Amino acid sequence: MSTQTPNSTKATSSPKSTSLSQDELKALVGAQALKYVKPGDIIGVGTGSTVNHFIKALGADQALCKSLKGAVSSSQATTALLNNLGVPVLETSSVDSLSIYIDGADEIDHFGCMIKGGGAALTREKIVASLAKTFICIADESKLVQTLGQFPLPVEIIPMAASQLIRSFSAIGGSAKLRLNNNQPLVTDNGQFILDVHGLQIKDPKAFESMVSQWAGVVTVGVFAFQKASLCLLATTEGVKTIEF
Ligand code: A5P
Repeated sequence: MSTQTPNSTKATSSPKSTSLSQDELKALVGAQALKYVKPGDIIGVGTGSTVNHFIKALGADQALCKSLKGAVSSSQATTALLNNLGVPVLETSSVDSLSIYIDGADEIDHFGCMIKGGGAALTREKIVASLAKTFICIADESKLVQTLGQFPLPVEIIPMAASQLIRSFSAIGGSAKLRLNNNQPLVTDNGQFILDVHGLQIKDPKAFESMVSQWAGVVTVGVFAFQKASLCLLATTEGVKTIEF
């Protein structure tokens, strides 16, 4: 049973913008996230197409970009983009804490719990998020859901556990499939595999995350309930809404 309280929507901060594509909405919210970056900060940066728009917006603000002490990155892809901007990418283990972590989500519920890992970076995302005081989720409105699970849940696993974990998900009503890339199992930045689990309805994200995290062979489950969002910048056709959790 969750003891969380629902969110409050604080503001709509952009002009009405009808008929924007999903990518344009991602660009809008990526740019909005810049206002949370302070000169001299060390920031945590996630992975995915929405974050790529944030990084692009950061690159367009050279003064802010150059002022940063550095960034902690959640993937090799993000590290490459930050390197291109000249932002120093720091070893995660050299940083004690971060004021903000900015990342997208595959789904976010009205309590700030998320499904993440569509880009296969969930393990490093959870590690970097756990260092941050404030997790700023940037997402377009298609990501906001009542109950997590419509998006197939990514789970990073140790390869030798694949078959038994597929059976374990089947026992709780999920259909797990190994993620492939060019007909071969996709290998993560950590050298592991990903299962995508269809057919789940995750009504108690914390209980679910706790349970699956204990299954032998699971590296990281893509439910972010313990590292949930502090706030969500949600791009809608009526502008960017700020939802606090
Ligand atoms: C990466 O592993 C994911 O957690 C992403 O944050 C998530 O898939 C959102 O991606 P987009 O911003 O590309 O929609």
